[in-house]
Amino acid sequence: MTLKIPRYDINREPFMTQTPDFNRKSQLLQTERTYKARINAAIQLTPEEKLFQIQILDPKERAQFSCLPGQFVMVELPGCGEIAISISGSCSNHEFIEICIRKVGKVTGMIHRLEAGAMVGIRGPFGTHFPMREMNGSNVLLIAGGLGIVPLRSSIYWVNEHRPDYKDVTILYGARTPKLLLFDYQYEEWRKVFNLTMHTIVEEPDENWTGPVGLITQLFDQVPIDPDDTFAIVCGPPVMFKFVCDHLSALGLPMQRMFVSLERRMHCGMGKCCRCNVGSTFTCLDGPVFDYWSVMNLQEAI
Ligand SMILES: Cc1cc2nc3c(=O)[nH]c(=O)nc-3n(C[C@H](O)[C@H](O)[C@H](O)COP(=O)(O)OP(=O)(O)OC[C@H]3O[C@@H](n4cnc5c(N)ncnc54)[C@H](O)[C@@H]3O)c2cc1C
Ligand code: FES
Repeated sequence: MTLKIPRYDINREPFMTQTPDFNRKSQLLQTERTYKARINAAIQLTPEEKLFQIQILDPKERAQFSCLPGQFVMVELPGCGEIAISISGSCSNHEFIEICIRKVGKVTGMIHRLEAGAMVGIRGPFGTHFPMREMNGSNVLLIAGGLGIVPLRSSIYWVNEHRPDYKDVTILYGARTPKLLLFDYQYEEWRKVFNLTMHTIVEEPDENWTGPVGLITQLFDQVPIDPDDTFAIVCGPPVMFKFVCDHLSALGLPMQRMFVSLERRMHCGMGKCCRCNVGSTFTCLDGPVFDYWSVMNLQEAI
């Protein structure tokens, strides 16, 4: 079975079929509109990663904002720049958007300095999403390495909110050190309340670590995988998802049932600037979520 993730096509938006309103102050397009938003909470998870809860100011816009797991928003810090960031919280939460940002450079560094009450701009949501509904009735494997747990977390909320639709749901998560395992304060909740199985692994243990040590593929020994009835979502650095997906392939899981999030440098998020393309594929429109078969056929994708 080949699953086709619909390409986000701005021409299919209802407003594109309407007569253009050249006084666009009164009719800004959703994708071009920057929502004014306030940071409600900024929580330091590790020295490099911070979780932000961001609320769109206008109550009507806030209620209208809807996203799906795997999509991303463009976060703008006026005067500094704009960056693509995955939605990390529950897509059914219309009160605030949760995002987790790693400090790597100019814009992320500046955003890390913001406290609750600071204002930012939000555009989006953009991109393809994990095909959660198509996974109904099957086992789901959610596999993350490092920061990959950030986009995966919205899928975790999704499966919890639609738990009867899925069979066994297993999270496999690996990081370099125990301190770099993100959202560790939620693992008990995911296991006991969300009814998910979760295994973690680290490469460099500390004196308190009692779990397994090594690469994430070592966790496959602990999980029974039914290749005929399982979907996998794999998020992390490209080198990691290549190893993981090849391993899953060797276990018999078809590439069309593995989904990865391919992150490229992005500028506009809507197919206009040509910053994010791999060949003729725009990762902001055709992705960031792809099935692994498509990624294998994209030259230079990994
Ligand atoms: C769809 C998508 C979702 C993303 N989700 C998240 C997220 O949830 N959390 C998060 O922390 N980051 C995420 N990123 C990455 C984030 O967009 C970049 O880290 C950010 O743009 C860096 O901006 P900067 O100005 O701080 O860094 P810069 O000063 O521009 O660059 C600093 C360093 O980071 C590298 N870099 C910049 N952008 C990227 C990128 N996209 N991929 C890899 N390396 C990059 C540069 O090459 C440079 O070495 C996502 C990217 C994409 C495309
Ligand atoms: S980010 Fe501009 S074309 Fe994709």
